[in-house]
Amino acid sequence: MDRTTSTGSTTNTESTGSTGSTGPARTAAGAPHRGVTRRALLGTAGAGLVVGASAGAAGAVALDRAPAAAPDPGPAGALGAARRPFHGEHQAGILDPQQARVQLAAFDLAAGAGRDALRALLRRWSRTAARLTAGEPAEEFENQVALDAGPCSLTVTFGFGATLFDKAGLADRRPAALEPLPAFPADALDPARGDGDLFVQIGADDALVAVHALRVLQRQAAGTAALRWQSAGFARTPGATAHPMTGRNLMGQIDGTNNPKPGEDGFAGKVFCAAGGDRPAWLAGGSYLVFRRIRMLLDTWEALPLDRQERVIGRRKSDGAPLSAPASGGESTPVDLAAQGPDGSLAIPSDAHIRVAAPAANGGAAMLRRGFSYHDGLLADGSPDAGLLFLAFQADPRQGFTPVQRKLSRGDGLSRFLRHEASGLYAVPPGAPQGGYVGQTLLED
Ligand code: HEM
Repeated sequence: MDRTTSTGSTTNTESTGSTGSTGPARTAAGAPHRGVTRRALLGTAGAGLVVGASAGAAGAVALDRAPAAAPDPGPAGALGAARRPFHGEHQAGILDPQQARVQLAAFDLAAGAGRDALRALLRRWSRTAARLTAGEPAEEFENQVALDAGPCSLTVTFGFGATLFDKAGLADRRPAALEPLPAFPADALDPARGDGDLFVQIGADDALVAVHALRVLQRQAAGTAALRWQSAGFARTPGATAHPMTGRNLMGQIDGTNNPKPGEDGFAGKVFCAAGGDRPAWLAGGSYLVFRRIRMLLDTWEALPLDRQERVIGRRKSDGAPLSAPASGGESTPVDLAAQGPDGSLAIPSDAHIRVAAPAANGGAAMLRRGFSYHDGLLADGSPDAGLLFLAFQADPRQGFTPVQRKLSRGDGLSRFLRHEASGLYAVPPGAPQGGYVGQTLLED
């Protein structure tokens, strides 16, 4: 056992050389690592640190990558040591900044696995997520893949698909808002890459840390739930730009500008569920997540001249300023949907994505978009299998994603360059308190 002392924000670990139940601390290559655990490697640098996306942070990662024979690398770099707490009112991975890497996965319950097995699994998964996000090894099925790195802002976010409730004998607790999304025109959905009983979003600023968490959770589920689908995605690495800024997608656009922002009036009501009416008490403080795997027709898109690309979205590509803004404007210049150009035409075209998707055009419908890019090689026709793993958190998909997507699928200039290929809708339970587990309000109240 580690003997851990915490002094304010400082956590020091004196190690006896154990990595939980997995034997002596070892490097990835299997050599003893001078008795230093992953947790000890965290040192003091990153306790509670919010990644500041400074160029220095990215440089520090090199410390984690020392070969096995090199001298002890000391504490993980600032990027590696950054932690995001697992416990809290809301699950992590919703409000915090996107990490550089994501693993998305869904699991289906095994035949015969009911409520008790589900409860045991969620307890085990929550305990593991709490340990890994704190930079500690898993208690079961630890494989040492992430041994030298800190938690790298790891977050693990769990969701429940509509199909879970019948299988686990919880049909009477299924929220009305979890009804299947309607079919939208031009949807080309592959059910094998969407839906699922249990959903997991794993974000981290290091690919090995994210994959490690997925692998451990998958093995811990054995016998209770089996992997149904998995998708890997990426976003900007903190420190890659001179200053923190909104990231770009694979079409090259700055994406995420007009998201609802914490602190704005009504923010919580847009993103998090409240109890009352047909909204169950067990989901209060939780959210709904809509997942869409959206392939971008990049060969067609990239053949489009820049000015036409900008008119498809309604924003400049260079700096994300709305087309209604003066040349001196920027990403944060408010959108003016009524603005006209010198010839009297709308500055933001009638089918521009930001006009058709705007809350003002959809009865106030809003969602918190937190998607990641994917690039999975080439399709048979030689075009890239690439696009956006669209993820949007919202208080109620019936007043968020569904009306907006209904409108986009009919009148959005961007939809000519997209194919929706997979879909999922999940209830995202509230966060777990210390000592509790995600899903406890559903299974025990
Ligand atoms: C690959 C697909 C998509 C791409 C590349 C894309 C890209 C963008 C870009 C570049 C912006 C402008 C910057 C910003 O405010 O974030 C934007 C805004 C927005 N998008 Fe998308 N988007 C996609 C799919 C969707 C979908 C499926 C929805 C919802 C059904 C959606 C909803 C929105 C909303 C609500 C806004 C903000 C509009 C505003 O109020 O200004 N987007 N999107």
